[in-house]
Amino acid sequence: MQKIPVHVFPTRADAATQLALETASLIKDNEAKGKHTVLGLATGDTPVPYYKELIKWHQERGLSFATVTCFNLDEYTGLCRDHPQSYWQFMHNQLFQHIDILPENIHMPSGTVAEADIPAHCHAYEQAILDAGGLDMQILGIGRTGHIGFNEPGSPIDSRTRAVSLDPVTREDAARTFGGLAQVPTSAITMGCGTILSAKRIVLMAWGNSKADIINQALNGSVNSSVSASYLQRHPNTDFYIDAAAASALS
Ligand code: PGA
Repeated sequence: MQKIPVHVFPTRADAATQLALETASLIKDNEAKGKHTVLGLATGDTPVPYYKELIKWHQERGLSFATVTCFNLDEYTGLCRDHPQSYWQFMHNQLFQHIDILPENIHMPSGTVAEADIPAHCHAYEQAILDAGGLDMQILGIGRTGHIGFNEPGSPIDSRTRAVSLDPVTREDAARTFGGLAQVPTSAITMGCGTILSAKRIVLMAWGNSKADIINQALNGSVNSSVSASYLQRHPNTDFYIDAAAASALS
């Protein structure tokens, strides 16, 4: 098993600049070959500086996203697209409405599928990723529970897109955005760990002291279902882009 390369940046903006450069190169290289680029995207505070950089690439340097297909990691169960806290809204506000991605190339799990239809919806999501040619690059944050997507502790390494219950710690961390714990959904639909590990390239970002302990566990702990991000040790092309505070528990 190889160690995951860790890049410690002075600031999150520096990390975002580097990751956006890699993404822009990938999109341009694929475009030159007449190919689409398939990006797996994440929500939360972590990727916001990266999305700002991608928007700059589009607005100031003419990078087109017309050949990009996106699949988001997850969505809260019970939230319609128009809900202010839905990840649909988040992605449109933070990225999609500022770039030229085609609406038909935006894919996110739905928060409003009837319970009986969730397995078919998840299966169709997996199939859509395959039909697009698989994920070229998956962007990840990490939760304090070690989750990637909403793969909370106990998620199997070969799990696929499915409905999951949210860990109490995850719900607590979301309470501020939702204006109280009671408003935070208790479940979500998420890509599985196996879905994420099928990506050709993965970059996990983390900022701040609150992520230091879990970053250390993910990188240096055993590969274990109690920390889903530890599964990334089994992936041949994953890097961690973190700031000094998130690196502070690494020896
Ligand atoms: P955050 O969440 O980016 O808001 O810290 C990360 C995650 O839960 O994956």
